[in-house]
Amino acid sequence: MKRTIKDLVGLKGKVVLTRVDFNVPMDEGGKILDDTRIRNVIPTIKYLTERGARVVLLSHLGRPKKFDTKKSLYPVAIELMKLLECNVDFINAVIGTEVKRKIKDLKEGNVLLLENTRFYKEEDLCDMVFARELASYGDIFVNDAFGSAHRKNATGFALARVLPNAIGLLMEKEIANLSLAIKEPKRPFVAILGGAKVDTKIKVIEKFIEKADCLIIGGAMAYTFMVAKGEMVGISMIQEDKLEVAREILEKAEAKGKKILLPIDHVGISTSDRKEKIEKVDKLKGDLAGYDIGEKSIELFKNEIDNASQIFWNGPVGMFENPKFANGTRKIAEAVASSKAFTIVGGGDTVNAINTFKVADKIDFVSTGGGASMEFIEQGSLPCIDVIQQKII
Ligand code: 3PG
Repeated sequence: MKRTIKDLVGLKGKVVLTRVDFNVPMDEGGKILDDTRIRNVIPTIKYLTERGARVVLLSHLGRPKKFDTKKSLYPVAIELMKLLECNVDFINAVIGTEVKRKIKDLKEGNVLLLENTRFYKEEDLCDMVFARELASYGDIFVNDAFGSAHRKNATGFALARVLPNAIGLLMEKEIANLSLAIKEPKRPFVAILGGAKVDTKIKVIEKFIEKADCLIIGGAMAYTFMVAKGEMVGISMIQEDKLEVAREILEKAEAKGKKILLPIDHVGISTSDRKEKIEKVDKLKGDLAGYDIGEKSIELFKNEIDNASQIFWNGPVGMFENPKFANGTRKIAEAVASSKAFTIVGGGDTVNAINTFKVADKIDFVSTGGGASMEFIEQGSLPCIDVIQQKII
């Protein structure tokens, strides 16, 4: 069992470097579209501040390669202030003399949010020099970023190697609930996988076949699988470099007698005559690009969902942010919500979807992790959890 913040004594006056996952959906103007990930770490922040800790929050947002004001965490600081009902300080840097000074001046029970950690290339390189510099500003490291615990980065992984550490309350809750789903999965276990992050998810799917009885694949990921199967996708976006992996996954599933369901009809956009026209089709031909699944696919998927005893859903099945392509994700959300199965939904966009379609309260466990929840179910742990000290019993 991992050490949690409840095992920490003498927090008063200590600088607690706290890694959270504030990678929230945001529009171009910095408006936060879903604050679930922020709300979920409030108990940890309050636990620490109420005991007099000086809390320094660290997170990434999006995948910027350098400083980019559109990816600033400043809007999160404003949101956090509302949720915590207290002042939250913000600084547009992660390391340096200014940050050091701000932390030194931070009062007991106060909160400071640092800028997007991915503005520094050192973050994803898991750079130890960067981590040691940051560690020198604090006393304790707390990781409550379940959503990014599968990333071996500087502020989630390396910091734990150089500071006394513990997991936060959200991380503890995620581990407990997801462990339930893997220790004794209720069968049939149906996994619905979608979304746009094909590159990182596809590797996990391969291993997921071992766990689930049926995989339903939707969203952008489906087109790569359809091409791998020899089906037409028009001009839908596919990942050429993942075709081979997709083929292997389909073969492996067949050999193991596991079902993989792909969409059988689509809602797409055709750009013929330079005009954008929305079409409902069985086959994506010519200049059609798919953006949502059609009614026949919804029926096919619903059939599996209705018969499942355990469901894990990660990734919308269409571009639901646009109402014209929201039907598929809405219907899947409603089907999952009304299912009698033990239901787990994970991932920023999927959580946004169940909130948008107002079914979140009917889901058994809503995980803040997307890729992280998939990898946890597949491996039973994650690198940023492994690196945390064991609880002394
Ligand atoms: C997520 O949203 O899944 C996590 O914050 C990790 O983000 P990443 O896939 O960009 O590393």
